[in-house]
Amino acid sequence: DDPTLLFTNAGMNQFKPYFLGAQKPKDKRVVNSQKCIRVSGKHNDLEEVGVDNYHHTFFEMLGNWSFGDYYKENAITWAWELLTEVWKLDKSRLWVTIFKDDDESRHLWEKCTDINPGRILKFGHKDNFWEMGQTGPCGPCTEIHYYTGKDINSQLAEGVNKLDDYREIWNLVFIQYNRSEDGALTDLPDKHVDTGAGLERLVAILNNKSSNYDTDLFSPIINEIINISGKSYEFELGVAHRVIADHVRMISFSIADGTMPGNDGRGYVVRRVLRRAARFGRKLDIKEPFLYKLVKKVREVMGKFYPELDEKFKHIEKIVKSEENSFNDTLDRGIEEYKKITKILSRGDTINGNDVFKLYDTFGFPLDLTKLMAKEDKLSTDDAGFKSCMDKQREQARSRKKFSYNVEKISWKMLGEEVNTEFLGYKENSTKSKVIKYFVKNKECYIVLDRTPFYAESGGQVSDIGSLKSNLDGNKLEVKVKDVQKNGEQYIHFGEISSGVLSGIEYVNAEIDINYRESIKKNHTATHILHQSLKDILGMHVQQAGSLVRNNNLRFDLTHHEKISQEDLIKIETLVNKIILDNKKVNSSITDFQLARDEGAISLFGEKYGDKVRVVDIPGFSKELCGGTHVMNTGDIGSFKIISESSLSSGVRRIVAVTGLAVYELIIKQQNLLNRIRNILNCSDDIILEKISDLLETNKNLKSISKHVQGVNLKEKISELISLANKIHSITFIIKKTDYDGDLKEMGDEFLSTIHSKGLMLVGTVKNNKPMLMCAITSDLTSKIQAGKILSKISKIIEGGGGGKAHLATAGGRKVEMLDKALADGESLIKSLLI
Ligand code: SER
Repeated sequence: DDPTLLFTNAGMNQFKPYFLGAQKPKDKRVVNSQKCIRVSGKHNDLEEVGVDNYHHTFFEMLGNWSFGDYYKENAITWAWELLTEVWKLDKSRLWVTIFKDDDESRHLWEKCTDINPGRILKFGHKDNFWEMGQTGPCGPCTEIHYYTGKDINSQLAEGVNKLDDYREIWNLVFIQYNRSEDGALTDLPDKHVDTGAGLERLVAILNNKSSNYDTDLFSPIINEIINISGKSYEFELGVAHRVIADHVRMISFSIADGTMPGNDGRGYVVRRVLRRAARFGRKLDIKEPFLYKLVKKVREVMGKFYPELDEKFKHIEKIVKSEENSFNDTLDRGIEEYKKITKILSRGDTINGNDVFKLYDTFGFPLDLTKLMAKEDKLSTDDAGFKSCMDKQREQARSRKKFSYNVEKISWKMLGEEVNTEFLGYKENSTKSKVIKYFVKNKECYIVLDRTPFYAESGGQVSDIGSLKSNLDGNKLEVKVKDVQKNGEQYIHFGEISSGVLSGIEYVNAEIDINYRESIKKNHTATHILHQSLKDILGMHVQQAGSLVRNNNLRFDLTHHEKISQEDLIKIETLVNKIILDNKKVNSSITDFQLARDEGAISLFGEKYGDKVRVVDIPGFSKELCGGTHVMNTGDIGSFKIISESSLSSGVRRIVAVTGLAVYELIIKQQNLLNRIRNILNCSDDIILEKISDLLETNKNLKSISKHVQGVNLKEKISELISLANKIHSITFIIKKTDYDGDLKEMGDEFLSTIHSKGLMLVGTVKNNKPMLMCAITSDLTSKIQAGKILSKISKIIEGGGGGKAHLATAGGRKVEMLDKALADGESLIKSLLI
């Protein structure tokens, strides 16, 4: 729930409120293993991955924790004990670093452990003061490093924090400060211990391997990459193998936890990492999507410990595959484009911002992918130029958007003190409200009230509509409210004045359109029931990916990897209708966020909630955090019907459904349609299907007869044309306008299969008032003259385009009157090439 992070980047993220004193932990001592991702923000290890043997985008962080309990002495003693006595690491390979001002820790290392004091080294802020991000809990740390080199006698203090052979394995952080936004450090109410040890590094050391990738955690994935690519691990020092093995873990776990590759935020990080991995696949000459095949290896290694990988396996595989597929199409072209751009550059040059942007915008190359390729070629990228292209594009997109309420720029007419708007619409349909401020332009007006029954658009539910009225000294004011939006805690009512004037008005009667609201309520409660039904029928991987609740229908987007089958749709629909018929009471209550979550209420990933939340509960069926308006009993919904199911983007499906009277209206509409079909076919319901299939069958037969007749005609026509044709240097030329209105391509094929060699045909015809051209050339002549090329030249004359292969091409155009000229020009062109 930390808005300063896109991903959990350290074991301590979830404990931040304990450190800051905002929450009390149940237990003061905790041990855990935490999935961590370090690809963005302060801790970003992306560039190291694969180049070395021990950095990862995704890894497991092992930690033990003291929340205001034990401190430095115990943390140091126990860390040493675990490493040297339980895991029996060789003390003569261990080194310890401390923060330069932290003499207490030096003293404790000397007092509580038998480490050689010469192996305790001081470092500055960069290495020994740990911070999770720009802000947050932090403090000095002491790190334990392990020498992985071959020769135990060649260790040097200078190698620590510098050379690969000296590997940090455990970081003990003494959390005692909070870093605020202005950079200042303040003391925390208590002192805490946060320790972090990378599982992958420990396993490597315990397995006696110098690389994390040689351990059981990675080798099944690496071996599969070798299998798929046929390239041994020695190929180019194994960098690509390692990068891919690392990235596929990050991608799999992120998707398992609900991230979808996308264009912003977390989704874009996953997309970037996936595209980076795909491009490393090209380095191994893998041309087809392959990452998705590695997901099962990740599952094999980790699924037992992380059941989400098991549960969502199919989902992850499909998402990765479709994402790979869509990038695969442009990857090669992007690499070509990159080569074209960089061909003229030499070492040390910079790729300009426009080109970097072109790779991004046209070929889907994330900036860091282009940077990586540039780095390999000893080039750099113009990041500022890239950013300015991005800004320009965003600006354009923004200005293309329809009217948007720019409330910052409004010069309000103030009537009362600025207060928050109180929403009374859960209970009231109308209120007497004080006007706080307003703005009028022509008949359009924006009005802020102190209290209102109008729901402001939020959480996918559209706003109410209705009216604001007053009648004061003959000024009969009526405002039709069309939309309501929140601006902070104030509600702005957007309306049109249909009578009277606003000036002088202090109070209005605010009244919502009740029918409109009732329909919205039905659709909102039905949305909750649908959400739970989808989980029940399709599986727990289903997550809400978008929702729109309005008066005439509801739209629900969900994460699901394939088309929902007709049977499943019926099951879902039936379950929703059953819950409606059960007429369950719909309860809503305000409660603590944590409590609601503990009770299993559905909250949305990435959504921010306050401490107090509203829970909408359909007892025994669904529980969701939601601020929307709902029916009292599920029976009020009346009925529910899905009207469409479609694909929105890779791995996301969209359902549109209706409720209440709209279902009845739908039945009527369909019944009318059926009536019309019945009338046209002039038969009774029970034989409609039979009659339609009879008609289709007859139609098919007629088509094939007509095709046959046409074929015979075509054959005759071609023979006739050939027999009448000119021959120049024993080549048969047919260049003419015809009245043939069948398929021109078929005509060309027929010509080629009749004449076999030394033949050329260029015909023009008019079909549906449009000029068409076809050129066919026997293959013995195509080394000299190609049909596609001829047409691409002469089709311009009829203002058209088209093309095709060397032996057969067709083109369509717009200018019928130019057809003769096109044929004449074609003739001279052909003759100049052949004779
Ligand atoms: N928070 C510290 C780290 O991430 C120790 O767990 O390194």
